[in-house]
Amino acid sequence: MPIEVSNLTHTYMKGTTSEVTAISGVSFRIEDGEFVGLIGATGSGKSTLIQHLNGLLRPTSGTVLVDGVDIWSKGVSLKQIRRKIGLVFQYPEQQVFEETVYDDIAFGPRNLGFSQAEVEARVEKACELVGLDKELLPRSPFELSGGQVRRVAIAGILAIQPKVLILDEPTAGLDPKGRMEILDNIKQLHETGMTVILVSHNMDDVARLCERVMVLEKGTLVFDGPAREVFTQREFLYSKQLRPPEVTLLMEKLRQRGWAVRQDVLTVEEAYAEIMKELRKKGVAGAI
Ligand SMILES: Nc1ncnc2c1ncn2[C@@H]1O[C@H](COP(=O)(O)OP(=O)(O)O)[C@@H](O)[C@H]1O
Ligand SMILES: [Mg+2]
Repeated sequence: MPIEVSNLTHTYMKGTTSEVTAISGVSFRIEDGEFVGLIGATGSGKSTLIQHLNGLLRPTSGTVLVDGVDIWSKGVSLKQIRRKIGLVFQYPEQQVFEETVYDDIAFGPRNLGFSQAEVEARVEKACELVGLDKELLPRSPFELSGGQVRRVAIAGILAIQPKVLILDEPTAGLDPKGRMEILDNIKQLHETGMTVILVSHNMDDVARLCERVMVLEKGTLVFDGPAREVFTQREFLYSKQLRPPEVTLLMEKLRQRGWAVRQDVLTVEEAYAEIMKELRKKGVAGAI
């Protein structure tokens, strides 16, 4: 289910003295199976934009087409749209509200009217997908660690079995281990064919996972293209209050010291390969 956004503008509190235009004139199309990273400084409009993709926010002007149909046209069920396009909010811990982890994950499928057996099967599958220990299911979500709560929130969306998964800063505030585990789960979901849209502050994560990157600045889409293209434009990124991934910056430092390494390195694996190549040339690789 391709998503097509045309000339989208969103103004909060329109007509009041405190009105804010959070998104202005944004257009793009996302095809099935893409993994898109959405980046931009705080307040650039990322959360506002993604909430339009499943009809949580209504455009002030412009359109959102899902499978070629304007989701705000008459006769379209937004409930159906949200079933196909799942959104995991920023700070999902604020949304965990049921008594047990099980009930929390089961909330979506129950709401869709599935049988108890189907709900159970979906909860179980969702737990597997996010690596959540089933022993936690009877527990209160409030007893869980930050990483576990994120998994519960993601599992709750996956239990709806959406075609598109949108995640707003899913790893913010987690330790590196928790972050890597959740991102690996998301990567696996993408590999099974799911379309993923990832909002993140972590450029290394976006560089490693996303093929395509969109950059927002003050509500305007200022870049939409391959990750390798945007992350090698250092000055452009800095001008948007962003920075290249650490691994890309490391390559730059090595080059400044005379190493003939590639500048468009986006992952630790690529950096490792480049460094080893150079060490071999220098004839020291055997020594390490
Ligand atoms: N519910 C809201 N009411 C009014 N203004 C809002 C609301 N949510 C966000 N904004 C404003 O819209 C702009 C974009 O915010 P947001 O979409 O949250 O950006 P980001 O997710 O990139 O940090 C900001 O100026 C923010 O203050
Ligand atoms: Mg946000």
